[in-house]
Amino acid sequence: MVKKNTDMATAEKMTEERQTILSGITPSGRLHLGNYFGAMRQHLEMQHRGDAFYFIANYHSLTALEDGEKVREFSLNIALDYLALGLDPEKCTFFLQSDVPQVTELCWILVNRSPVSLMEKGVAYKDKVANGFSPNTGLFIYPVLQAADILIYDSDIVPVGADQKQNLEICRDLAGRFNHVYGEELLKLPEPHIVEEVAVVPGIDGRKMSKSYHNTIGIFDEGKALKKQVMAIETDSAALEDPKDPESCNVFALIKLFADEEQREEIAGKYRAGGYGYGHAKSELLTLINEAFAEARERRRDLETRPDDVMDILREGGLKARERADSVMERVRSATGLITTYRELQP
Ligand code: ADP
Ligand code: TRP
Repeated sequence: MVKKNTDMATAEKMTEERQTILSGITPSGRLHLGNYFGAMRQHLEMQHRGDAFYFIANYHSLTALEDGEKVREFSLNIALDYLALGLDPEKCTFFLQSDVPQVTELCWILVNRSPVSLMEKGVAYKDKVANGFSPNTGLFIYPVLQAADILIYDSDIVPVGADQKQNLEICRDLAGRFNHVYGEELLKLPEPHIVEEVAVVPGIDGRKMSKSYHNTIGIFDEGKALKKQVMAIETDSAALEDPKDPESCNVFALIKLFADEEQREEIAGKYRAGGYGYGHAKSELLTLINEAFAEARERRRDLETRPDDVMDILREGGLKARERADSVMERVRSATGLITTYRELQP
């Protein structure tokens, strides 16, 4: 009986404690449906479930982009995209990674406890090498910067796409090693939150939708540009009257992401019955995309006319994020023996 009460108390305490949810998105291009279903949608859903911190990972974008104008443009576009899609700055902390420069300090500290052999296992790095590129050092230690992003806010849960699994494992590994040296529980080990069923959103050529394959459909594409992309989705050469298998069709794979259960069944039935061409399916997909993002497009147009408000949101988010980062950094500096004096001089 006593045990039961204790368990109940613990359970209540756990639900009372607000968990810190953290995620970042790299501004390396215009966001597409893969980004939306693989990452952003979860971010938006989870902002109501805890203390959410979402940031624009512009330091990370430097591993791929040299053009400062592009870094700026993509960063501001992501801010507009997230806000238009429903990110609520009253509910969560939304900020630019570069507004928390402490993260680069933690990255440097972690780098020194990070085995080269662990970095060499990084898939993004290995891919570049395998494809004959000569990766920069930033890409090599990308997972360490990502670990710093996560650990600096004492994050509990990190919602990410399936392709980020390894980076999360490296983060936990690095935090464990660090704690082993400097004291257990110095850094909080985060839990990844991965939505497996939307593992990979296919692009218009059937490969993973990715800006590097130029096969994307942009979240905010509309009108002719959107139609052109949808009509270009590759399909097999079955004739209009032939029965078709929805499960092997790229168009249907995208329809599934937008349609509810009933619509899905109905469209799948039409595929199987025959007399339903890929052109029909593409038109249905177009309608579904337009409906899904109609409100967000309106909101985005409005936000574009208020860039100062967007900056204010990011500024305020950055302030909150910096405060949280400072408290973790104090522990880390103290444990690692890094003395600083300048903070005492600040007002
Ligand atoms: P890209 O492949 O276009 O360069 P990013 O790597 O910048 O996209 O993607 C950012 C995040 O969006 C990824 O971590 C992943 O969670 C998600 N994502 C991107 N493309 C897809 C996809 N095709 N399917 C599912 N999720 C995706
Ligand atoms: N690497 C992530 C991506 O490409 C972006 C990212 C940077 C991130 N830092 C992070 C995601 C910290 C989660 C937590 O999608």
